[in-house]
Amino acid sequence: MGAMSERKPLIVGNWKMHTNHLETIQMVQKLSYRLDLADYERVEVVVAPPFTALRSAQVVIEQDRMRFGLGAQDVFWEEKGAYTGEVSASMLAKLAVGHVIVGHSERRQHFGETDEMVNKKTRAVLSAEMRPIVCVGETLEERESGQAEEVIVGQIKGGLARVDAESVSRLSIAYEPVWAIGTGRTALPDDAGLITEIIRETVSDMTNSEAAGSVRILYGGSVNPGNIKDFMAKKNIDGALVGGASLDPDKFAAIVRYWI
Ligand code: 13P
Repeated sequence: MGAMSERKPLIVGNWKMHTNHLETIQMVQKLSYRLDLADYERVEVVVAPPFTALRSAQVVIEQDRMRFGLGAQDVFWEEKGAYTGEVSASMLAKLAVGHVIVGHSERRQHFGETDEMVNKKTRAVLSAEMRPIVCVGETLEERESGQAEEVIVGQIKGGLARVDAESVSRLSIAYEPVWAIGTGRTALPDDAGLITEIIRETVSDMTNSEAAGSVRILYGGSVNPGNIKDFMAKKNIDGALVGGASLDPDKFAAIVRYWI
Protein backbone atom coordinates (compact mmCIF):
# COMPACT_ATOMS: atom_id res chain seq x y z
CA MET A 1 0.00 0.00 0.00
CA GLY A 2 1.42 3.42 -1.01
CA ALA A 3 2.97 6.16 1.10
CA MET A 4 4.01 3.76 3.79
CA SER A 5 7.48 5.18 4.26
CA GLU A 6 5.97 8.62 4.82
CA ARG A 7 4.20 7.52 7.98
CA LYS A 8 6.23 9.03 10.79
CA PRO A 9 5.66 7.10 14.03
CA LEU A 10 3.29 8.88 16.40
CA ILE A 11 3.39 8.28 20.16
CA VAL A 12 0.66 9.97 22.17
CA GLY A 13 0.37 10.20 25.94
CA ASN A 14 -3.28 10.26 27.00
CA TRP A 15 -3.16 11.57 30.55
CA LYS A 16 -6.90 11.04 31.03
CA MET A 17 -8.26 12.74 34.19
CA HIS A 18 -4.84 13.15 35.79
CA THR A 19 -2.63 16.18 36.38
CA ASN A 20 -3.83 19.67 37.25
CA HIS A 21 -2.21 22.52 35.37
CA LEU A 22 0.77 22.79 37.73
CA GLU A 23 1.46 19.07 37.61
CA THR A 24 1.14 19.24 33.84
CA ILE A 25 3.89 21.87 33.62
CA GLN A 26 6.16 19.65 35.70
CA MET A 27 5.40 16.60 33.62
CA VAL A 28 6.04 18.39 30.37
CA GLN A 29 9.37 19.68 31.70
CA LYS A 30 10.44 16.27 32.97
CA LEU A 31 9.63 14.75 29.64
CA SER A 32 11.55 17.38 27.72
CA TYR A 33 14.69 16.65 29.79
CA ARG A 34 14.49 13.02 28.77
CA LEU A 35 14.12 13.46 25.01
CA ASP A 36 16.41 15.05 22.49
CA LEU A 37 16.32 16.30 18.94
CA ALA A 38 17.08 12.91 17.44
CA ASP A 39 14.00 11.46 19.16
CA TYR A 40 11.69 14.12 17.74
CA GLU A 41 13.14 13.65 14.30
CA ARG A 42 12.32 10.00 14.45
CA VAL A 43 9.00 10.11 16.27
CA GLU A 44 6.19 12.63 16.58
CA VAL A 45 5.53 12.95 20.31
CA VAL A 46 2.23 14.32 21.62
CA VAL A 47 0.90 14.79 25.14
CA ALA A 48 -2.80 15.12 25.86
CA PRO A 49 -3.48 16.59 29.32
CA PRO A 50 -6.97 17.54 30.56
CA PHE A 51 -8.63 20.66 29.10
CA THR A 52 -7.81 22.72 32.20
CA ALA A 53 -4.09 22.22 31.65
CA LEU A 54 -3.89 22.88 27.92
CA ARG A 55 -3.14 26.58 28.20
CA SER A 56 -0.33 26.04 30.71
CA ALA A 57 1.12 23.27 28.59
CA GLN A 58 0.94 25.45 25.49
CA VAL A 59 2.78 28.30 27.20
CA VAL A 60 5.59 26.15 28.55
CA ILE A 61 6.01 24.27 25.27
CA GLU A 62 6.21 27.53 23.31
CA GLN A 63 8.42 29.38 25.81
CA ASP A 64 10.94 26.61 26.07
CA ARG A 65 10.64 25.70 22.39
CA MET A 66 9.85 22.12 23.25
CA ARG A 67 9.36 19.82 20.35
CA PHE A 68 6.34 17.86 21.34
CA GLY A 69 2.83 18.47 20.20
CA LEU A 70 -0.25 19.13 22.24
CA GLY A 71 -3.33 16.95 22.12
CA ALA A 72 -6.82 17.23 23.57
CA GLN A 73 -8.81 14.28 24.89
CA ASP A 74 -12.22 15.22 23.51
CA VAL A 75 -14.15 17.97 21.73
CA PHE A 76 -17.74 18.96 21.01
CA TRP A 77 -18.84 19.20 17.38
CA GLU A 78 -20.73 22.50 17.43
CA GLU A 79 -18.80 25.69 16.75
CA LYS A 80 -20.39 27.74 19.54
CA GLY A 81 -23.68 28.17 21.38
CA ALA A 82 -25.70 27.14 24.40
CA TYR A 83 -23.89 23.89 25.20
CA THR A 84 -22.92 24.32 28.84
CA GLY A 85 -19.69 22.59 29.69
CA GLU A 86 -18.60 21.83 26.15
CA VAL A 87 -15.46 22.91 24.30
CA SER A 88 -15.36 23.52 20.54
CA ALA A 89 -12.71 22.56 18.02
CA SER A 90 -11.82 26.18 17.26
CA MET A 91 -11.22 26.81 20.98
CA LEU A 92 -8.74 23.95 20.99
CA ALA A 93 -7.08 25.08 17.78
CA LYS A 94 -6.44 28.49 19.41
CA LEU A 95 -4.42 26.70 22.10
CA ALA A 96 -2.10 25.22 19.49
CA VAL A 97 -3.67 21.81 19.90
CA GLY A 98 -2.67 19.67 16.93
CA HIS A 99 -4.37 16.36 17.66
CA VAL A 100 -7.70 15.55 19.26
CA ILE A 101 -8.62 12.13 20.62
CA VAL A 102 -12.13 11.26 19.53
CA GLY A 103 -14.35 8.36 20.60
CA HIS A 104 -12.10 6.95 23.29
CA SER A 105 -13.71 3.81 24.69
CA GLU A 106 -14.02 5.50 28.09
CA ARG A 107 -16.19 8.15 26.46
CA ARG A 108 -18.20 5.52 24.62
CA GLN A 109 -18.66 3.53 27.88
CA HIS A 110 -19.24 6.24 30.47
CA PHE A 111 -20.71 9.04 28.38
CA GLY A 112 -22.70 7.14 25.80
CA GLU A 113 -20.80 8.26 22.72
CA THR A 114 -22.04 6.62 19.56
CA ASP A 115 -20.34 6.22 16.19
CA GLU A 116 -22.53 9.05 14.92
CA MET A 117 -21.23 11.38 17.64
CA VAL A 118 -17.68 10.22 16.96
CA ASN A 119 -18.23 11.07 13.31
CA LYS A 120 -19.47 14.60 14.09
CA LYS A 121 -16.49 15.19 16.34
CA THR A 122 -14.07 13.83 13.76
CA ARG A 123 -15.43 16.16 11.11
CA ALA A 124 -15.36 19.15 13.49
CA VAL A 125 -11.69 18.49 14.29
CA LEU A 126 -10.83 18.26 10.59
CA SER A 127 -12.72 21.47 9.82
CA ALA A 128 -10.62 23.25 12.44
CA GLU A 129 -7.46 21.99 10.71
CA MET A 130 -6.45 19.70 13.53
CA ARG A 131 -5.88 15.96 13.36
CA PRO A 132 -8.37 13.55 14.92
CA ILE A 133 -7.17 10.38 16.62
CA VAL A 134 -10.25 8.21 16.17
CA CYS A 135 -10.41 5.39 18.70
CA VAL A 136 -11.93 2.00 18.02
CA GLY A 137 -11.88 -1.24 19.96
CA GLU A 138 -13.93 -4.27 20.91
CA THR A 139 -15.01 -5.34 24.38
CA LEU A 140 -14.04 -8.68 25.88
CA GLU A 141 -17.49 -10.14 25.19
CA GLU A 142 -17.29 -9.04 21.59
CA ARG A 143 -13.86 -10.60 21.19
CA GLU A 144 -14.87 -13.84 22.86
CA SER A 145 -17.95 -14.18 20.70
CA GLY A 146 -15.85 -13.75 17.56
CA GLN A 147 -17.23 -10.30 16.71
CA ALA A 148 -14.06 -8.23 17.04
CA GLU A 149 -13.56 -7.63 13.32
CA GLU A 150 -17.17 -6.79 12.67
CA VAL A 151 -17.24 -4.31 15.57
CA ILE A 152 -14.06 -2.58 14.43
CA VAL A 153 -15.21 -2.33 10.81
CA GLY A 154 -18.55 -0.89 12.00
CA GLN A 155 -16.83 1.70 14.19
CA ILE A 156 -14.54 2.75 11.34
CA LYS A 157 -17.37 3.01 8.83
CA GLY A 158 -19.52 4.95 11.28
CA GLY A 159 -16.74 7.15 12.62
CA LEU A 160 -15.33 8.09 9.23
CA ALA A 161 -18.59 8.42 7.30
CA ARG A 162 -18.68 11.36 4.87
CA VAL A 163 -14.99 12.16 5.45
CA ASP A 164 -13.28 12.67 2.09
CA ALA A 165 -10.06 10.92 1.12
CA GLU A 166 -7.89 14.00 1.50
CA SER A 167 -9.12 14.52 5.07
CA VAL A 168 -8.81 10.84 5.91
CA SER A 169 -5.12 10.98 5.12
CA ARG A 170 -4.70 13.55 7.93
CA LEU A 171 -6.18 11.46 10.67
CA SER A 172 -4.96 8.69 12.91
CA ILE A 173 -6.87 5.69 14.12
CA ALA A 174 -6.14 4.12 17.49
CA TYR A 175 -6.96 0.47 17.94
CA GLU A 176 -7.55 0.04 21.66
CA PRO A 177 -9.16 -3.24 22.67
CA VAL A 178 -11.34 -2.26 25.63
CA TRP A 179 -10.22 -5.27 27.66
CA ALA A 180 -6.57 -4.22 27.34
CA ILE A 181 -7.02 -0.68 28.68
CA GLY A 182 -5.62 -0.14 32.17
CA THR A 183 -5.66 -3.87 32.84
CA GLY A 184 -2.02 -4.72 32.27
CA ARG A 185 -3.32 -7.17 29.68
CA THR A 186 -2.30 -6.39 26.10
CA ALA A 187 -3.48 -7.74 22.82
CA LEU A 188 -1.02 -10.14 21.28
CA PRO A 189 1.06 -8.20 18.76
CA ASP A 190 -0.11 -10.67 16.08
CA ASP A 191 -3.78 -10.02 16.89
CA ALA A 192 -3.18 -6.27 16.90
CA GLY A 193 -1.30 -6.68 13.62
CA LEU A 194 -4.30 -8.44 12.09
CA ILE A 195 -6.87 -5.92 13.30
CA THR A 196 -4.77 -2.97 12.17
CA GLU A 197 -4.50 -4.55 8.73
CA ILE A 198 -8.29 -4.84 8.64
CA ILE A 199 -8.54 -1.20 9.68
CA ARG A 200 -6.32 -0.09 6.81
CA GLU A 201 -8.26 -2.24 4.35
CA THR A 202 -11.54 -0.78 5.57
CA VAL A 203 -10.22 2.76 5.16
CA SER A 204 -9.00 1.85 1.68
CA ASP A 205 -12.45 0.49 0.74
CA MET A 206 -14.04 3.73 1.97
CA THR A 207 -11.57 6.04 0.21
CA ASN A 208 -8.59 4.85 -1.81
CA SER A 209 -5.33 3.05 -1.19
CA GLU A 210 -3.30 6.25 -1.13
CA ALA A 211 -5.37 7.83 1.62
CA ALA A 212 -5.39 4.54 3.55
CA GLY A 213 -1.63 4.33 3.16
CA SER A 214 -1.22 7.73 4.81
CA VAL A 215 -3.40 7.10 7.86
CA ARG A 216 -1.40 6.41 10.98
CA ILE A 217 -2.73 3.50 12.98
CA LEU A 218 -1.82 3.37 16.65
CA TYR A 219 -2.11 0.56 19.15
CA GLY A 220 -3.31 1.33 22.67
CA GLY A 221 -3.91 -0.76 25.78
CA SER A 222 -1.32 -1.34 28.52
CA VAL A 223 1.59 -0.22 26.32
CA ASN A 224 4.84 -0.11 28.30
CA PRO A 225 8.58 0.10 27.60
CA GLY A 226 8.76 -3.71 27.54
CA ASN A 227 6.11 -4.38 24.88
CA ILE A 228 6.21 -1.33 22.59
CA LYS A 229 8.85 -2.78 20.29
CA ASP A 230 6.75 -5.82 19.42
CA PHE A 231 3.81 -3.64 18.47
CA MET A 232 5.91 -1.22 16.45
CA ALA A 233 7.36 -4.14 14.50
CA LYS A 234 3.94 -4.76 12.93
CA LYS A 235 3.58 -3.47 9.41
CA ASN A 236 0.35 -1.59 10.03
CA ILE A 237 1.11 -0.20 13.47
CA ASP A 238 2.56 3.30 13.26
CA GLY A 239 2.57 4.33 16.88
CA ALA A 240 0.90 4.06 20.26
CA LEU A 241 -1.73 5.72 22.39
CA VAL A 242 -0.39 5.35 25.90
CA GLY A 243 -2.38 5.79 29.12
CA GLY A 244 -0.90 4.80 32.49
CA ALA A 245 2.73 4.58 31.39
CA SER A 246 2.60 8.09 29.90
CA LEU A 247 2.21 9.52 33.41
CA ASP A 248 5.71 8.33 34.24
CA PRO A 249 8.21 10.45 32.29
CA ASP A 250 10.88 7.73 32.42
CA LYS A 251 8.52 5.12 31.03
CA PHE A 252 7.01 7.42 28.44
CA ALA A 253 10.46 8.49 27.21
CA ALA A 254 11.47 4.83 26.97
CA ILE A 255 8.33 4.13 24.91
CA VAL A 256 9.16 7.02 22.57
CA ARG A 257 12.60 5.44 22.13
CA TYR A 258 11.03 2.10 21.31
CA TRP A 259 13.79 1.04 18.92
CA ILE A 260 16.47 1.06 21.64
P1 13P B 1 -3.44 2.24 29.38
O1 13P B 1 -2.14 2.44 28.62
O2 13P B 1 -3.42 2.77 30.76
O3 13P B 1 -3.91 0.81 29.27
O4 13P B 1 -4.53 3.13 28.61
C1 13P B 1 -4.67 3.00 27.25
C2 13P B 1 -5.53 4.09 26.77
O5 13P B 1 -6.71 4.10 27.00
C3 13P B 1 -4.90 5.19 26.03
O6 13P B 1 -5.86 6.01 25.46
